[in-house]
Order: sequence, then structure tokens, then C-alpha cells
Amino acid sequence: MPLDGPLGVPNHLNRPLALTWSDEADCAAMARRLAALPAVRGACIELHGGLGAGKTTWVRHLLRALGVTGRIKSPSYAIVEPHVLPADAAGNVPAGEAWHFDFYRFGDPQEWEDAGFRELFAAPGLKLVEWPERIAGLTGPADLALTIEASIDGSRAVRVAAGTARGASLLAALSPAAGPT
Ligand SMILES: Nc1ncnc2c1ncn2[C@@H]1O[C@H](COP(=O)(O)OP(=O)(O)OP(=O)(O)O)[C@@H](O)[C@H]1O
Ligand SMILES: [Mg+2]
Repeated sequence: MPLDGPLGVPNHLNRPLALTWSDEADCAAMARRLAALPAVRGACIELHGGLGAGKTTWVRHLLRALGVTGRIKSPSYAIVEPHVLPADAAGNVPAGEAWHFDFYRFGDPQEWEDAGFRELFAAPGLKLVEWPERIAGLTGPADLALTIEASIDGSRAVRVAAGTARGASLLAALSPAAGPT
């Protein structure tokens, strides 16, 4: 019987998940699996990876799978783009909000207060954060951290790690042992 880890779940569920996306269809499939889990709608998810790794692409697939229609703009210039998540068709999951951040151009910590980012991070809803390294120390631990690395052949090596109990349960549901969702 494994001992509980610091996130309150058995240690074997806290191990990061290593995935390979051969192409964008694999990226979309993983986003759909995550979107099927209601807890994702209240999660904070960091996206690590260099320029062009595929962070925005994955976020777009996740938001589409959560029912967002219309254009999903990259927040590169605005830093944040808000989205409305519609209730699911069966009415089991209520409507909610999502906030897609890209902190690549974030430089002034004063902006954290002035632009209201502190409030957004404290509010309920899904937070998707590109370039979280730029706001290190300003937020609490993310529920999930994805690290995406592009290979020379265009495939992506992906690592998914949990930082909270919510993240650990999402990660456990994503793990191959959990079976298809
Ligand atoms: N899983 C994938 N498989 C193949 N190509 C991909 C994949 N993900 C993204 N791409 C391609 O890589 C390019 C860059 O993707 P994207 O804009 O999502 O990167 P990013 O990590 O958000 O970059 P930035 O740091 O500039 O925000 C796009 O042309 C996209 O089509
Ligand atoms: Mg991007």
C-alpha cells in the first residue's frame, strides 16, 4: 500500500506523465480527454516550452473541446483573452469562464496589480498560462504543468505534472492505466 504523498493522493498517482504527440491530432486527442473531466473547468494549467513548442495550439484544442466557438485569439499582445465555457449539452456541468494568458511580454510586476491579474487568478474558472516563468513567485502552485518540446521530426515530447490534489486527480484520470475516457 503506497503512502500518501504531499498532495494527499497515493505517491504512484503523482508521478509525471510522459507522452509523445506524433502530430497535432495526438495533441487534440489529449486535450479532449482532459476537457471531459469536469474538474478541469476550475484548474490552473501552466504551459511550459520554447517559442513555437505548441502551447497555444494545445490551448485552442482544449477550449474547442470545452465548447468554445468562434475565433480563439492568441493572447500574445493583450496578455489575457477571456472565454465563456458553455454548459455541457446534458446540463450536468454549468457554464463557466476561462482565461488564457501569455506572459511572454510581461515585464513590470506592478502590472500584476494594475491589470487585475491577481484578481483573475483568485477567481473561479479555468486559467491557462503560457510563459508562466515570467510571473514566477506571483501565483500559487498550478494544478497541472505541461511541458512541450518540439522534436526535429515535428513530434512533441510532453510531460504532465501535478502541483495540487486537483491536478493529481486530473493526472490520474489522464494516465493510460485509467483507460479511455
Ligand atoms: N502537436 C503539434 N504537432 C505538430 N505541429 C504543431 C503542434 N503544435 C503546434 N504545432 C505547430 O507549431 C507552430 C507553433 O505553435 P504554437 O503557436 O502553438 O506555439 P507556442 O508554444 O504557443 O509558441 P509561443 O511561445 O510563440 O506562444 C504552429 O505552426 C503549429 O501549427
Ligand atoms: Mg503561444
